[in-house]
Amino acid sequence: MGRHVLITGAAGGIGRAVAEEFAADGAVLTLADRDREALETVAAQLRATGPGAGSEDPVRTLTVDLTRPEAAEDLVHRAWGTSGPIDVLVNAAGVYPSLDMGEVTAADWDRLFAVNLRAPVLATAAFSRLAAERGPGGAVVNISSGSALRARPGGGPYASSKAALEMATRAAALELGTQGIRVNAVSPGFIPVDSACNPVSEEYAAAIGANPLGRAGTPRDIARAVRWIAGPEASWITGEILRVDGGSSTGALHLPRIWPPERPEPAGGTPHTRTAVTAPASPADPATEGNPV
Ligand SMILES: NC(=O)c1ccc[n+]([C@@H]2O[C@H](COP(=O)([O-])OP(=O)(O)OC[C@H]3O[C@@H](n4cnc5c(N)ncnc54)[C@H](O)[C@@H]3O)[C@@H](O)[C@H]2O)c1
Repeated sequence: MGRHVLITGAAGGIGRAVAEEFAADGAVLTLADRDREALETVAAQLRATGPGAGSEDPVRTLTVDLTRPEAAEDLVHRAWGTSGPIDVLVNAAGVYPSLDMGEVTAADWDRLFAVNLRAPVLATAAFSRLAAERGPGGAVVNISSGSALRARPGGGPYASSKAALEMATRAAALELGTQGIRVNAVSPGFIPVDSACNPVSEEYAAAIGANPLGRAGTPRDIARAVRWIAGPEASWITGEILRVDGGSSTGALHLPRIWPPERPEPAGGTPHTRTAVTAPASPADPATEGNPV
């Protein structure tokens, strides 16, 4: 019998890839999402192709709306009651609506934080209380975002929820480590997932997809990192935020150089010298400054 893994957002691009990754390991899966139809499609494919195919059902589904305050705790109890003690909890459900900081409403903010922050925090709490009765061990992986470090226009509330999730990850790791539960986060760079629930414009995808490794990330890139950090090879890692982003969080690849590259010295000519650039006296040119003001 493999590990029992509960995955929220399992009908989505990243959650589904996480489910496939653990299924390949022979895990018993509980897949949870708000979108019942998409969830059943994912489960049917895993049942048909996974290594547990044909044996006693290794894939169970639970429909849940994580905007409800009691939903995350209920979900963990239902999964535990149906398929036995949970070994790994992956909090992948998330929403990333475009909301401006100057216009966001209380309802928008609460809904976003309910799914992206409250649900993973309360699911982790419920998991830890049940695990305390079972004995030491267990792993939680939250799916954060590069936005936790760097806001973008229209992404402020989302970025705020992920920044808070990273702190909640470290705080939970601190307290639950004494119980043998490791709590980490995987922070993806931009991953094209073609989501109906979280659509992004082509223009946005093209602008944000650049990274030093020069290829787009895939849901599988994220899923493999999740499986690794939840597994025995990472048994002394907790409170970590693992950035899986092709290097995009290392800096701003698309900004111009401070100095142009050196030109080779022309034969017999005067050496090329750099000319000092004086700071502009007037307000900065937003096209070259790379900051929001
Ligand atoms: N795709 C990216 O570029 C990217 C980058 C960084 C972080 N992330 C994070 O990865 C996670 C997965 O996102 P994705 O890109 O796969 O998007 P997705 O839209 O494909 O998946 C999100 C899933 O969450 C589910 N969900 C949303 N609200 C819910 C609710 N109230 N109750 C239950 N389920 C709900 C959706 O039904 C969907 O299946 C999210 O936490 C997201 O913030 C994504």
